[in-house]
Amino acid sequence: MWSNFSETLTKSHWDIDMAGSRTLTIVKPDAFASGKAGRIIAHLEQAGFKVKAGRVLHMTQAQAGAFYEVHKERPFYGSLVSFMTSGPCMPLVLEKANAVLSLRDAIGATDPAEAAEGTVRKLYAESKERNAIHASDSDENAEREARFFFSESELIAAL
Ligand code: CMP
Repeated sequence: MWSNFSETLTKSHWDIDMAGSRTLTIVKPDAFASGKAGRIIAHLEQAGFKVKAGRVLHMTQAQAGAFYEVHKERPFYGSLVSFMTSGPCMPLVLEKANAVLSLRDAIGATDPAEAAEGTVRKLYAESKERNAIHASDSDENAEREARFFFSESELIAAL
C-alpha cells in the first residue's frame, strides 16, 4: 500500500489514467457581471462535462498577464488583461471523453457573431473579447493551465 501511495505522489496527477479526458475552462468576468455564470456551468453539465475542481477568484494584473502571456505581442493584450481583472472569474477542471475538442465544440468560435447556434458563446457572449468563457486549445495547454490555477493536492482530489 505504501509503495503504491508514494508512487502515486511522485507521478503527475494530471496524467494518471486521465490522458485526454480533462480540460481547463474559465467562466469569464462578463458572465459574472451579467449573472450568466450559473447558466453557463449548467450548459456545460448538460453537455456531459463533470466539474472536477473549481474556484472563484478575482485575478490580479500579474496573474492575468501571465496566463495570457502567449498573446503578449497582440494588439488586444492590454485590453484583455484589463477585462480579465475587471471582476471575478471561475477556472474549472472539466472531465469528459475527448475533453479539449469536446469543450471547444460546446463553446463555439472566439467571436460570438461567428459561433454556431446553441454554443455557449452564441448564447451568452457579448463580443470577441468579452466572450464569456475560455477553453484550453490542446491537452498540453490544458495541463499547463490547470496547474496555473490548481495545486497538486487539488488535482489529486479531482482524480
Ligand atoms: P480566450 O479563449 O480566452 O483566448 C484569448 C482571448 O483573447 C480570447 O478568448 C478573447 O477573449 C481575446 N481575443 C482574441 N482575439 C481578440 C481580438 N481580436 N480582439 C479582442 N480580444 C480578442
